[in-house]
Amino acid sequence: MKTDPIYIFRKTWATYQKVISNNLMFHREILTAVKKLLESRQETLNILDLGCGDATHIGKILSPGQVAEYCGCDLSPYALDVAKNNLEPFGISVNLLCRDMVAVLREAPDNHFDVVYSGYALHHLSTDEKQIFFTECQRTLRENGCVILVDVMLEEEQARNAYLDCYNGAVATQWEALTAHERKQVQEHIRNCDFPETPADMQMLASNAGLTNCQRLEKQTWHEAWCYFA
Ligand SMILES: C[S@@+](CC[C@H](N)C(=O)[O-])C[C@H]1O[C@@H](n2cnc3c(N)ncnc32)[C@H](O)[C@@H]1O
Repeated sequence: MKTDPIYIFRKTWATYQKVISNNLMFHREILTAVKKLLESRQETLNILDLGCGDATHIGKILSPGQVAEYCGCDLSPYALDVAKNNLEPFGISVNLLCRDMVAVLREAPDNHFDVVYSGYALHHLSTDEKQIFFTECQRTLRENGCVILVDVMLEEEQARNAYLDCYNGAVATQWEALTAHERKQVQEHIRNCDFPETPADMQMLASNAGLTNCQRLEKQTWHEAWCYFA
């Protein structure tokens, strides 16, 4: 089904790998900024990774000694299989769940995680679900814990349709590393499944949940990294 948010990840994980290796979604700059933030934490961390995919990125921004507990969830069983291998160097028992991220978050224990991380997955949720995301994050975070969010966001004042036209225009003209067929698949996925918010609206949803202290870590076109603290 083409409106299934993980259709493209189930069928064409290789396309996403091409996107990453050609830095088309600015993973390099974004993850450098997130790594810098995480390096400032001295304690070992309990991490919840929502929409973890194959965990390649979280695996690169954390060092093995930094993680006490890792729980990742994704709807793609294929990605989770790969994640298991990518997380092996951490030498800790990891909990990988093939489930919806909101359901996992709702069942997360109170006051337990130091970091709730989500990379390029939250924009698949509705605004109401994003509110639930922040509310449940606040509940499951320990004191000094934070949400780290990497995602596509609208420019301030930009409507979704304008974003879709601009982003898909960039895919058409700048994503030359993909074949024409792959570009078409990506554009269709974006049109059907991307529901990004503006940074100010995300800040408001976080603030409604009590996460009032936030900071932009990086921005590259529509690709942003933010952290939200209580
Ligand atoms: C663009 S990939 C990002 C993967 C990884 N976080 C990264 O940064 O490379 C988005 C991932 O979110 C997953 N996803 C989308 N909606 C989801 C949901 N409701 N619950 C769990 N995972 C979801 C997809 O299966 C896919 O693996």
